[in-house]
Amino acid sequence: MSSVVVPVIAIDGPSASGKGTVAALVARELGFHYLDSGAIYRVTAYAAQRAALALDDEPALVVLARQIELRFDGVEVFLNGVAVGDVVRTEEAGRAASQIAALPELRAALLQRQRDFRQAPGLVTDGRDMGSVVFPDATVKIFLTASAEERAQRRYKQLIEKGFDASLAALLQDLRERDARDAARSSAPLRQTADAELLDTTSLTIAQAVEQVLQWFRVAKATL
Ligand code: C5P
Repeated sequence: MSSVVVPVIAIDGPSASGKGTVAALVARELGFHYLDSGAIYRVTAYAAQRAALALDDEPALVVLARQIELRFDGVEVFLNGVAVGDVVRTEEAGRAASQIAALPELRAALLQRQRDFRQAPGLVTDGRDMGSVVFPDATVKIFLTASAEERAQRRYKQLIEKGFDASLAALLQDLRERDARDAARSSAPLRQTADAELLDTTSLTIAQAVEQVLQWFRVAKATL
């Protein structure tokens, strides 16, 4: 039996590192599909809150995760056919996502949903465990990060540009707390795996980061 391996570029890293922006641009450049895995956790947490479920009620969350219908169209996410909009992009939604993301059975319930995005001609995906758990055979694995201060600055700029109120100090504290929770959990913790390239974007432009990812992909593809 011959099977064609669909290439995957897995980009993991902490909150607000810019990995989503870089991943989406790389996908566009290559004509690949794009999966924002964080959005799956964000929408699941949102659906749980709407259903008045406690964010630590693992059995109920697992049932919910299996029931909901999720669809992406560009940056828009549809929950059971209805566009959810920016409510899942707030800091509160990120915190709720991070809470449910610490539950191993819930993560397991969302695994196949993520793997289904691996479709020809290829997939670029970003998250915390794309290279370590979801796509362990990814063509290229990248750990994309930046200093906490730089990430807080970037998030601050983004929120202000969108017309939201924001406090740099509160954002920095929130990022540190979320990083600590994502790194300390026992199930799929955030960390750079031995086979992942480190991409520190603290002093890189978005274009430079995109180019570096493309270069690693070209090299990896040549040896496929
Ligand atoms: O990347 P984003 O900030 O949208 O992710 C929201 C939260 O979802 C993260 O803080 C993390 O706890 C969780 N997450 C995860 N695994 C992923 C993607 C996101 O645990 N692959």
